[in-house]
Amino acid sequence: MRHNLSEVNDLIRDRRSLSPEKFSGRKVHREIVELALTNATWAPTHGMTQPWRFTAYVGEGMRAIGPKLSHWYKVASGDAFSASKFEKLERRGERVSAMVVIGMVPDVTGRIGEQDEMLAVACAVQNMYLTCTAHGIGGFWSTPQFIHLAEVREFAGLPANGQVLGFFYMGYPEESWPVSHRKPLEYVTQWVDQAPSEG
Ligand SMILES: Cc1cc2nc3c(=O)[nH]c(=O)nc-3n(C[C@H](O)[C@H](O)[C@H](O)COP(=O)(O)O)c2cc1C
Repeated sequence: MRHNLSEVNDLIRDRRSLSPEKFSGRKVHREIVELALTNATWAPTHGMTQPWRFTAYVGEGMRAIGPKLSHWYKVASGDAFSASKFEKLERRGERVSAMVVIGMVPDVTGRIGEQDEMLAVACAVQNMYLTCTAHGIGGFWSTPQFIHLAEVREFAGLPANGQVLGFFYMGYPEESWPVSHRKPLEYVTQWVDQAPSEG
């Protein structure tokens, strides 16, 4: 065994999403964001393309976020616009001390398919989540419709061939650590432990 499996199991199963409305006022320091992003870059990557791109907002950098989120929501929501959701997003910058725009820029040669590039970024996000969990920080991967707006991509400094795959918020819980549940393994797994019968 190369690692303490009991700790690894606990970390993986304890990982939780925590919505920004449940964050306390405790600040997430830049060093922790940096560690989460460094760990993110150790995710598997087909062909070593390392397609993840991060734009990290911390400290004063968070100031512009709330008005931007609510503006993008308004632009993209159309008839589904909700004033309470607009206000919730507008105030988000006040509650959150660290947020990362998760970006993906596919390999220019096109030798690796876009799906694989996205899957690699998803693995990177899991590493961010786990790093947060180890610190007692809740992560929250959010993928609102408006991430597909060109102005969101441009705001995050991604090139035209890049994509925003979501926002990752980080914060300490105001209350107790959330609990969750999963379907039993039998429900999602088929075992094949016999050779196929002839004919
Ligand atoms: C690709 C992806 C996108 C997600 N986007 C959202 C989102 O837009 N809004 C949201 O409330 N949760 C989002 N989540 C978080 C899920 O709601 C959360 O993982 C799920 O409820 C299970 O909770 P847990 O992460 O605490 O185990 C997303 C998760 C993934 C993997």
